[in-house]
Amino acid sequence: MKPLEITKGVYSVGVIDWNVRDFHGYSTYLGTTYNAFLILDDKVTLIDTVKKGFEDELLYNISQIIDPKKIDYVVSNHTEMDHSGGLPRVMHKIGEDKPIFCSKMGQKNLSKHFRQDLNFQPVDNLGELSIGKRTLTFLETRMVHWPDSMFTYLNEEKILFSSDGFGQHFATLERFDDQVDEGELMYQAKKYYANILLLYSPLILKLIQKVKELGLEIEMICPDHGVFWRKDPGKIIEAYQEWAEQKPKRKAVVIYDTMWHSTHTMAEKIVAALGAEGVKAKPMHLRSCHRSEIITEVLDSGAVLVGSPTLNNGLFPTVSDFLTYMKGLKPKNKVVAAFGSYGWSGEAVKLINREFEAMGLEVVDEGLRVQYVPDEDALEACVALAKRVAEALPPE
Ligand code: FEO
Repeated sequence: MKPLEITKGVYSVGVIDWNVRDFHGYSTYLGTTYNAFLILDDKVTLIDTVKKGFEDELLYNISQIIDPKKIDYVVSNHTEMDHSGGLPRVMHKIGEDKPIFCSKMGQKNLSKHFRQDLNFQPVDNLGELSIGKRTLTFLETRMVHWPDSMFTYLNEEKILFSSDGFGQHFATLERFDDQVDEGELMYQAKKYYANILLLYSPLILKLIQKVKELGLEIEMICPDHGVFWRKDPGKIIEAYQEWAEQKPKRKAVVIYDTMWHSTHTMAEKIVAALGAEGVKAKPMHLRSCHRSEIITEVLDSGAVLVGSPTLNNGLFPTVSDFLTYMKGLKPKNKVVAAFGSYGWSGEAVKLINREFEAMGLEVVDEGLRVQYVPDEDALEACVALAKRVAEALPPE
C-alpha cells in the first residue's frame, strides 16, 4: 500500500494483508489492513506499527516520506500483535531509546510481549503530548479491544486514531469510506463489531457517552483496520451505539447442523413459518457458514434458534463450537429456542437450553425434539414453535 497523505503532514503508512483468511478464528475473506500513521511535526510521530512480517513494508512506506531514523516519538495504542508485532524491529531501526507512548496497561503488556528494555512512556487518560504545532490527546478505551487499548486524538486536525475501534477487516487499495461500496463497508464494520467487540458493549456505550461529554469534534476516524471514516464519521458512531444497545428487532436467525436432513428440514420449516409471521428470518447451516458470519447475524436478530441432532448422547460438534463462541461474546436481549432430531436418547435440545440459560437469554419454549424423520405433525410443531418465537418479538 503506497503511503498516502490523508491531511497535510499526516500520512497513512500501513500495509495491506491481502491473504489473511483466519484472524484468530474469525473468517477474514476480504483480507485486512494494519494501519499506521506518520505525523510530520517538530517531533516526527509514528502512531502504531504493523503485524510481524510486514515491518519492512512499513519502514519502506515511511522512507518514501522521511528517513525512519528521524522518527522522534512512537505511539502504541494497543498491544495486540497485529499492531505491535512489528514494534521491536521498528524500534531497532529508528533507535531503541526513542520514547513509546502507551497506556499504563500498555506498558505492562508490551513489556510482557517483548521482554525488551524499551523506553515506554505511560500516559494518563486525557493526557496531552505536544509534538510541535500539534498536540495529541490520549483517551483510555479499556477493552476496545484489550485492557491496554487507547485512542489518540490529533487536536488540530480533529482526527481520531481509534486502533481497533470502528475497524473492519477489509483489504482495499482505497483508503476512505466514500471510495468503497457502502453496503460492504457497513457489513464488514458490523461483522468486526459482532466478533471482536460485542462482549464489551456496555463499555462501548459508556465510551460513546464520554466522547459526547468531552465534546470532541471529529473530522475523521482512522482505525487500525480497514478504511478511514471521513464522509460522515458520525455514521459509524451511531452504528456502534445501535449495535451496543442490542435492541431486539423482528429478525431471527436459525442456526443448525444436521446428519440426515431431519434437523435441516425442521430448520427450513421454522424459517418459512417465521417469515409468514412477518419475521425477517434465515437459516444458517454450520458447515456452510462460518461462525463469524453467523454471529454477525445474531448481533441484530431479536431471536436465535439453534438446532442440533443428538450425536453420541450429545450435541453435534459444530453446534458445541458455535454455542461456545456465542456464549463468550455475551449477546443480550435475544429470545432463544432449541430444536433437533434424534434417534433414541435425544439430549441435544436439553443441552442447547442449558447453554442458553448460561448465557442469561430468554428461552421461549422448552424446545422441540423430533424422533428420526419429521412427519406432518412434527412439521406443524415446527410452525407452532416459530409462532411462539414470533409472539415474543417486538412488532415491526
Ligand atoms: Fe487489531 Fe485487538 O487487534
